[in-house]
Formats: sequence, C-alpha cells, structure tokens
Amino acid sequence: MKLVTIYGSPTPPGKLARALELLETGVRERHPGWEVERIAPASTITPVVATWRDDVVEKVSGADAVVISSPVFRGSITGTLKLLIDMLPVEALRSKPVAILTVAAAPHHFLSAERHLRDVLSWFGALTAPNSAFFVDRVFAADTVDDEVRHELHELADQVVVLAERLSGRSFGPDPLTVRYRKKTSG
Ligand SMILES: Cc1cc2nc3c(=O)[nH]c(=O)nc-3n(C[C@H](O)[C@H](O)[C@H](O)COP(=O)(O)O)c2cc1C
Repeated sequence: MKLVTIYGSPTPPGKLARALELLETGVRERHPGWEVERIAPASTITPVVATWRDDVVEKVSGADAVVISSPVFRGSITGTLKLLIDMLPVEALRSKPVAILTVAAAPHHFLSAERHLRDVLSWFGALTAPNSAFFVDRVFAADTVDDEVRHELHELADQVVVLAERLSGRSFGPDPLTVRYRKKTSG
C-alpha cells in the first residue's frame, strides 16, 4: 500500500521537513507493507510561494493514505499548500484516510492551520484522522529530537495506516456537497 506525504512548505528544508522525515522513516521501519513517497513543491516563486508539478494530482489520487503537512503562515496553512489543494479533484481525497501535521513558531497557534485544513478536507469528503499532530518548530532545531515527539509522529501515521488497511475500497456517503451540486445541475 502507498502513503503519500505532502510537504506544504515553500522553503525546504526546514523544521517541517525534519518532522516529515521522522514520520516517513517510522512508516518504512514499522510498516514493511507500505511504500512512502513525499511530494513537495517544484519551484520557488518568492520566499513564501512555490508551485507544484502537474503529476502531483496523479500521485495523490493513487495514494491509499495521505499525510498533509504545513507550517503555520499568518494563522493558517501556506498559500503553497492551498495551490496544491486547488489542483485536486474531489475524487483524489474522497473517503481517503488523511492525517494532518503542522508546525509553528508560537504554541498558541496550535489549532490555526489544523482547523482550516479540516474544513477543506470536509469539502473532499476525506476520512480525516481524528488526532492531528502539532509541534512548535524549535523541537526540530536541536541535534536530537525527543522520543516523545518521535512517538507522536508514529502515532499520527499509524492512524491513517490502520484506517486504510481496515477500510480499503469503502466509500462513505452522503456525497460531499460539491458532488451533490454537480449531480443536481447535470441531471
Ligand atoms: C510568512 C510566514 C508566516 C508565519 N506565520 C506564523 C504564524 O502565524 N504563527 C506562528 O506561530 N508561526 C508563523 N510562522 C513561523 C513558521 O510557522 C515556522 O517558522 C515554521 O517552522 C516554518 O516551517 P519550516 O521551518 O519548515 O520552514 C510564519 C513564518 C513565515 C515565513
């Protein structure tokens, strides 16, 4: 099975890249039946905006599970990640297990990007994992990362691995609003 991790930062490598790397290594070591592929922006336009190759749509669509990650920018997700989200059709994430990973400089911004992502994932009818992971960026600045942080990253990934293994092939209704609207206007 395949896990796709989405790296939503325009400025690699940073704290988020380090967090994602620990998560990906954990999946490779602990879930041998799983392949892991990271998708990241292809070219940086400005220090805060980067764009994606077209093949990201195919890669996300082909995944059995997804980890979507973003640094907090201005109390929300990055514009770069939103550019990718806007490229995806509803089918790319519908009924698909998706886990949310965010990092920020300030601890009081812990829900900011997560709650915006949950709204957007609802548009797709994604199977959003119940527990997200948030870290203050300084935990990835030191040479060593605490075992507790590593454990939380493993737990985050385990949610989507288990959901995908148990629910593979299942689709859940009711249809997301966009699908219902499309049916109404075409019929
Ligand atoms: C444009 C911009 C906006 C940011 N906005 C916030 C913010 O609203 N809240 C916060 O806690 N951190 C904010 N940060 C800090 C980043 O979330 C933090 O440094 C994060 O680690 C960056 O990810 P990276 O290290 O992977 O590049 C902002 C950083 C940038 C560059």
